Amino acid sequence: MKAIRCKEYGPPSALVLEEVPEPVPKENEVLVQVKACGINYPDTLIIQGLYQIKPELPFTPGSDVAGIVTAIGEGVKHLAVGDPVFGFVPYGGLAESVVVPATACFPKPDKMDFTVAASFMMAYGTSYHALKDRARLREGETLLVLGASGGVGLAAVELGKQMGARVIAAASTDEKLELCREYGADLLINYHQTDLKATLKELTGHKGVDVIYDPVGGDYTESAFRGIAWEGRFLVVGFAAGSIPKIPLNLPLLKGASLVGVFWGAFAMKHPKQNMQNALTLMQWFEEGRLNPHIHRVYALEQTPQALEEMMARKVRGKVVVSI
Ligand SMILES: NC(=O)c1ccc[n+]([C@@H]2O[C@H](COP(=O)([O-])OP(=O)(O)OC[C@H]3O[C@@H](n4cnc5c(N)ncnc54)[C@H](OP(=O)(O)O)[C@@H]3O)[C@@H](O)[C@H]2O)c1
Repeated sequence: MKAIRCKEYGPPSALVLEEVPEPVPKENEVLVQVKACGINYPDTLIIQGLYQIKPELPFTPGSDVAGIVTAIGEGVKHLAVGDPVFGFVPYGGLAESVVVPATACFPKPDKMDFTVAASFMMAYGTSYHALKDRARLREGETLLVLGASGGVGLAAVELGKQMGARVIAAASTDEKLELCREYGADLLINYHQTDLKATLKELTGHKGVDVIYDPVGGDYTESAFRGIAWEGRFLVVGFAAGSIPKIPLNLPLLKGASLVGVFWGAFAMKHPKQNMQNALTLMQWFEEGRLNPHIHRVYALEQTPQALEEMMARKVRGKVVVSI
């Protein structure tokens, strides 16, 4: 089968398209013929050797897959050969076939095409877990989303609205913010042009924001934290800006606030039943038309390096997907 291979840690241009043997599913695994693979920011990190997981070289990147089950390992009950599915793997998805653990593989709703299915799990799975399980976001609360037009960010905007919050979207361009407005954001902040802390105080009548969702890091983190409300929850989701911020610990003390880590991949492995329940809720909301993933662009498998480069250049709004 054809697969994108990372043979040495480096930029997307170092990736190569190669023929490799098709994998074989073991117990509680399924083999999926991949129709589409969504690109996520961690894919840009894993190929550079900068992610939490450092696979042995050479390896195939790609996590968010959608396709057809072509073989099942022993013990798999809820899936059969021929089922259209979508699922999640730590890496291996940018290939014609991939082995997926059965607990991380879900029947694809009929209404969802393969491109949308491949853009769904990581973005919505992460943001729903963050807002529901980690922040315990309540109806009527204020939610600030940084990097709000990105993959996990836009999902957080949409989910925040579904959960009854007043959503403030923050992003670097007015074009990106316009998309956030279309996805339900009540208030918009261009953080390239305005000071986050001062604007947050102004927008919340000096009360501050109840929940902050931060997939960006860098200088934005402290500035946003300074605009948090009493007993606010600050969700540490990622560091797309490149640097891991250090926060003075007097800030959470003064606000009685919590710094809350979010690691959806580890949660999904440690609590597969709870993750499955979250996924079922998200699929139901999708089928009811309450969630509408935004696809920025679809690439062919051999164009994977361009897809990753576009994301690293901060040009993507919503999701980019590779069609296979
Ligand atoms: N904790 C978890 O479980 C989990 C799960 C999935 C993803 N993540 C993390 O969440 C972050 C976002 O992932 P994603 O897939 O949503 O990525 P994405 O679609 O590329 O979104 C990232 C956003 O960050 C902002 N950004 C600021 N500086 C940037 C820079 N130097 N390069 C790129 N983007 C920059 C961009 O918005 P502006 O231009 O508007 O600033 C961009 O829209 C990543 O750090 C990823 O590792 C964490």
